[in-house]
Amino acid sequence: MNRFTIRYGKTVVYFGFEVVKNLENIVQRNSKVFIVTSKSAAKISGALKDVEEILQKLGISYEIFSDVKPNPYYFIIEQAVESIRKYNPNYVIAIGGGSVIDTAKIASALALCGGNIKDYVFGGKQVCGSIPLIAINLTHGTGSEVNRYAVVTLDEPRTKFGIASEHFYPIASFEDPRYTLTLPSNQVLYTAIDAFYHSYESATGRDTSPFVLMLAEEAAKLIAKWLPIAVKDLSNLEARYWLMYASMLAGMAIDSSRAHIIHAIENVLSGINTDLPHGAGLAMLGPSAAIYIHNSVPELSYRILKYLYPSIRPVKDDAEKACKAVDVFQKLVGFNESLSTYGFNEKDSDMVANTVINVLKYSLRLAPFDISAEIIKSIFLRAL
Ligand SMILES: [Fe+2]
Repeated sequence: MNRFTIRYGKTVVYFGFEVVKNLENIVQRNSKVFIVTSKSAAKISGALKDVEEILQKLGISYEIFSDVKPNPYYFIIEQAVESIRKYNPNYVIAIGGGSVIDTAKIASALALCGGNIKDYVFGGKQVCGSIPLIAINLTHGTGSEVNRYAVVTLDEPRTKFGIASEHFYPIASFEDPRYTLTLPSNQVLYTAIDAFYHSYESATGRDTSPFVLMLAEEAAKLIAKWLPIAVKDLSNLEARYWLMYASMLAGMAIDSSRAHIIHAIENVLSGINTDLPHGAGLAMLGPSAAIYIHNSVPELSYRILKYLYPSIRPVKDDAEKACKAVDVFQKLVGFNESLSTYGFNEKDSDMVANTVINVLKYSLRLAPFDISAEIIKSIFLRAL
């Protein structure tokens, strides 16, 4: 389990145990840092303490914003923008999972470029740059630490929406698997499942490529091998190392090929109920969506699903088996939830389908088949 450094996009990625020490060589002495976190994960994982020790040693002053919640609302991100503007830091450091890193991406850019979030989502305003952002990743699920996307929850329409910008790449990302050991057991599952769907959707999307397939296949192979081990033994550090590596690869895969139908529907659902964990929403929708995906691109779908279910074949006739492949694997690792637990029912199907079709067109364009409201409703209803 080596330590290594790679360059991807505009990001230098430091991967392995205790890599956060390299932060010393990135931030300038006597500069100012603004830290973005959630309430507790940065503290519990030990990452905040490690960062603070380095900052104090270098004489760097810092301020902490710890109000980020899962599926962050735009107004919380805009509060972070205000705090960053007032503090005027040289760097922003995100310590957390996807919600924290995404909040820090958007806030670092808006603090520099002005405007509010809706100007960028609906008004065509372009991100002009960013205060240099450093990401300390605490999960094996997001991929945000190595890509140019950030997701925000809006109120009208009520959905999560992705923003893309070349300026969203962190200047440096730190991936230390030790920090994931304090994830609650359900988050171990949800975050790895998120990484799996980054792999599956990027591999099967219209923008896929041999490069994306290479990344996605390796990620799926590692998740299929190590997630069952990680959920049985939460202290297994080798499993976390490989899950974090898989998540990073899958994060790079969606950087080139993006996710499509499963993420599009999930973004509406966890925008409506922000208590729905992103990975859980994906896991509920995934099995039935896999039928449509495998039916339209069986060879690409097979490249990923064969790691979960070796008897599946790269043929349309195995579309129902694709559903089973995902379902059996998810049950094997202990996922048994349904959307009805999160307050959804049959009456919501029209509203969900309409929001996906009307608002998230950019995601649907990437799906390997033409998407209708009927297909979205059918995937949603099977997840109840
Ligand atoms: Fe995701």
